[in-house]
Amino acid sequence: MVTRAQPTNPLWHPFADMGAVDGDRVVITRGAGSYVWDDQGNRYFDATASLWYANFGHGRDEITTAVTDQLRKLDSYNLFGYYANEPALELAERVSALAPTPGSKVFFGSGGGDAVDTAVKIARAHFAQTGRPEKTHVIGRVQGYHGTHGYGTAVGGIPVNGAGFGPLAGDFSHVPYDSAEALDAEIQRVGADKVAAFFCEPVIGAGGVLHPPEGYIEAVADICRRHGVLFVADCVIAAFGRLGTWFGIDRWPVEPDMITVAKGITGGTIPLGALIVAPHVAEPFFTGAPGAPTLRHGPTYAGHPVACAAGNATLDIYERDGLIPRGRELEKPLADALAGVADHRLVGEVRAGLGFLAAVELAPDVLAADPGAPGRWQRTCREEGLLVRPVAKGIVMSPPLIADEPELELLAAGLPRALERLAKSL
Ligand SMILES: Cc1ncc(COP(=O)(O)O)c(C=O)c1O
Repeated sequence: MVTRAQPTNPLWHPFADMGAVDGDRVVITRGAGSYVWDDQGNRYFDATASLWYANFGHGRDEITTAVTDQLRKLDSYNLFGYYANEPALELAERVSALAPTPGSKVFFGSGGGDAVDTAVKIARAHFAQTGRPEKTHVIGRVQGYHGTHGYGTAVGGIPVNGAGFGPLAGDFSHVPYDSAEALDAEIQRVGADKVAAFFCEPVIGAGGVLHPPEGYIEAVADICRRHGVLFVADCVIAAFGRLGTWFGIDRWPVEPDMITVAKGITGGTIPLGALIVAPHVAEPFFTGAPGAPTLRHGPTYAGHPVACAAGNATLDIYERDGLIPRGRELEKPLADALAGVADHRLVGEVRAGLGFLAAVELAPDVLAADPGAPGRWQRTCREEGLLVRPVAKGIVMSPPLIADEPELELLAAGLPRALERLAKSL
């Protein structure tokens, strides 16, 4: 039996084989623009914008200023009950004004998982408050990713992420990610009177960058509307320019009942997420009538003033630098940059061309011979100065929206070289 040294540092990394991390840790110490540096002085092109979030890159002074100013003025205060703070009020107004559904309400949390769990609870609470408490079932999509909180793990459609944790939250089911008919059939199987919500990433991200088929988004929005099921667009990755629009889902002519956002809302600088709730969903909680229900839900750091100050400064950057449309402008250049790698003998499929994100899958024979090949390809990419992310069958990337043509050229040239290094180890 191979034994490995125990990690010497107690830091427990998410989604990591901790026995393999020690001695192999990449300690990132600095970031500027599209690049980060490790503690050995190596520079890397951050081709994943960290974890799909550094949309304006790293090291923006505007964020530092906004955050330090806010820390000096009011470092923290909660939002429970009557309390509010100026940055949270401002950010809620700005996000609501940009949202596809006029008059939307904004519920803040600390990240995407909070927003997803809040969406499940608000969907069920909405129906409970409008006389249909039996509408609790939630439908997700196979390969969908909605974070690692309780409900998010259950609505996600990547079985390995839910394995080994005992029973997940009940009342969830999944449909193939690419069939609107399957959603219609599942709602009918469960009964529309039992289904509260359908969760849908506009482009599946962590599940492998899977595009919706032509007409799919419009069709599922329509199916949800016809059956009285809430359509929840999980735009934690898609929003803030990744698909070239403010929310990602607004590339399509649909009005979701709820939208989850996080990541790009602060460019990842300070943890923040939000659930955007259409007024007709929030209505039972906003009647103002005596005895109107209270939503007994909310994390401690909901609407944290420092996080919201970072959010406001982030929206300023997007507006001033015109970054939001770049997710669409750069989708073809990214696809072109990856065209060369598509012909490589180790590559099975390249998925790019819808937003500034892409996946490159290894060929089935490579994966059959070595299921760990994506992880090793990630490593050879790193040796070429490129930070990419391994997923089940290959790697994904989502560079900062500030990336330019020479930086895409780094990908075009570096990925095949990294494949050649991988080939030598097969
Ligand atoms: C679509 C989607 N939803 C939800 C989440 C969960 O967000 P967080 O990791 O901030 O909890 C993620 C994270 O990657 C995501 O991609």
